[in-house]
Formats: sequence, structure tokens, C-alpha cells
Amino acid sequence: LSDLQEIERLKKEKNAIILAHNYQTGDIQEIADFVGDSLELCIKASEIDESDIVVFCGVDFMAETAAILNPNKKILIPDTQAKCPMACMLNAKDVKKFKKMYPDTAAVLYVNTLAEAKAEAEILCTSSNAVKVVESIPQEKILFGPDRNLAWYVSKKVNKEIIPMPSQGYCYVHKLFDLGDLHFLRSKYHDAEILVHPECDPEVQNFADNVLSTGGMIHHVARSPKKTFIICTEVDMVTRLKRENPDKTFIPALNDAICENMKLYTIGNVKNCLLTGEYVVEVDKNIAEKAKVAIKRMIEVSK
Ligand code: MLT
Repeated sequence: LSDLQEIERLKKEKNAIILAHNYQTGDIQEIADFVGDSLELCIKASEIDESDIVVFCGVDFMAETAAILNPNKKILIPDTQAKCPMACMLNAKDVKKFKKMYPDTAAVLYVNTLAEAKAEAEILCTSSNAVKVVESIPQEKILFGPDRNLAWYVSKKVNKEIIPMPSQGYCYVHKLFDLGDLHFLRSKYHDAEILVHPECDPEVQNFADNVLSTGGMIHHVARSPKKTFIICTEVDMVTRLKRENPDKTFIPALNDAICENMKLYTIGNVKNCLLTGEYVVEVDKNIAEKAKVAIKRMIEVSK
């Protein structure tokens, strides 16, 4: 059997499904049962009832979220090094410290956080629902983290005080986009629409025609009359957009915008993961219980 056939066989034998993030390579997106952004994956993970095993092809905080929502299922990741550097910029101790410094605030945390930080949050959000989540809570002052640029984006859209926590959290991939490149691309492709992720720097967001999460980009492109799009997010988002819109043209603003952590997964290690049952994602029970409240609140607001 080829690796792909073997994966299909193992999925049936073990009653497993594969969930993959939009930033996975095309071959992983193709073997996945579901591909989405972190919110869609989170909602999907909250609805799994028939499968016994979930192979999660996304960085580990996403798999942890699935584990928190499904304590009785086996959540596996193909490589334990698939960590999100931005999530590692904020731990539970930092959140507690900020809460002490700003007593009348609510902590709204991006799902890109460690489980221990999630446990200290009032509610979670993703890039696709951050504005809605911040508007849904009564507090006027919000501690928002860990991505400073997403905090800036939210602060432009809501009438509340947004305090970035930590003060300089960032995604190393979205930081790479540069205004000079965009000026060049705009002059080369006059008719193209520039779609920018809210983790990019403010001047890059200001230059965009639209600032969107990856899920938002998928919906927007399907409805837009435009034929050409310049995409400012992780480069494999273009892989998905091309597959789903073969009649449109997508230009990655930067071919080097690669999330190395997402790329640790391969057909080989996904097969191995199904074969050996390694590596199991586990979250401390007390932390999971607390984090689950904040995750469920977000899912409720997003419905
Ligand atoms: C996510 O939420 O999955 C990432 O921020 C990428 C995105 O979908 O915008």
C-alpha cells in the first residue's frame, strides 16, 4: 500500500479523523477530513462524537484545545515540537501579573496561548471572532494577548480600551510582511485586491483592501468579483485558496512567509502517528477544567 492508502486504511481501522489547519502543506490538507482556521477547528473539535481518535495537524495549542474539549478521546499530534512561538510569549504567571496591575479588566486571550494561560482568561478568541468576543463582554477595559497587532486591530474596531498583554507579543511569520513589497505588488498588479491578516504590522494592515482571518479570506474570495488577490499570511493559505478557486489568481505577498512549526507534519509522520498512537496530547485536569470554561464561552459567542 502507498502511504496515502495506508493512512486511509488506518483511519478506518482505528476510527480516526484528521483535522488540519489552513497553514498545513497541500498534501496534509488533502488527506484531512476537515481543514479550517483555529475557530473552525475548535468548533469542529467540540462536535466530535463518532471518532475515537483525532490526529490534529496544527500547532500544539490547537491540539490542546481539542483535548480540553474531548477529555474522553485520544488526541494525537504527529510531532511534539510543533509549538507556536507566539503562544509561548505569555504564561499563566504573566496573565496573573497583568490582572493585578489592571484590576478592572477582563482577560481576552487569543487561542494561540498555552493551556495554563487559557485557564486564567475570562474568554478566548481567534482572529476571526476577536471583535465580536470583545464586544460580547461587559468590561470596558480589556487585557488582550498575546498578539500585539491583533490587539491593535481590535482596538480600531471597538469602543473599549485594549491593553496588549504582553506589550510586544507577535507572530514571527506575519511580522515578515513589509510595506515596500506591497507597494511593489500594487504597482505590478493594479487590479488585485490585497488581503492582509490582522497579525501583520499596523502599516501593512492600513495598506490592505481587507484585513481578514484565514477563514474570512476563504469566504471573502468566494464572494468577491475580483479575479486576482495578493495574500499576506502564511504561504500555504494560498495553496488552499488556489485549490478551492481554480478560476482566480492568488499571489503570495511573500514566498518565505512560512510557519516552520506547522511544517513539521508530513505524510510519513501522520501515518506513523496513526500506526503507533504517538504522540498523545495531555492537559493537566485542573488547568483543562478552567480553560474549558473560557473556550466554551467563545464558542457560544461565535454561534
Ligand atoms: C487562526 O486563527 O487559525 C490563525 O490566526 C490564522 C487565521 O485563521 O487567521
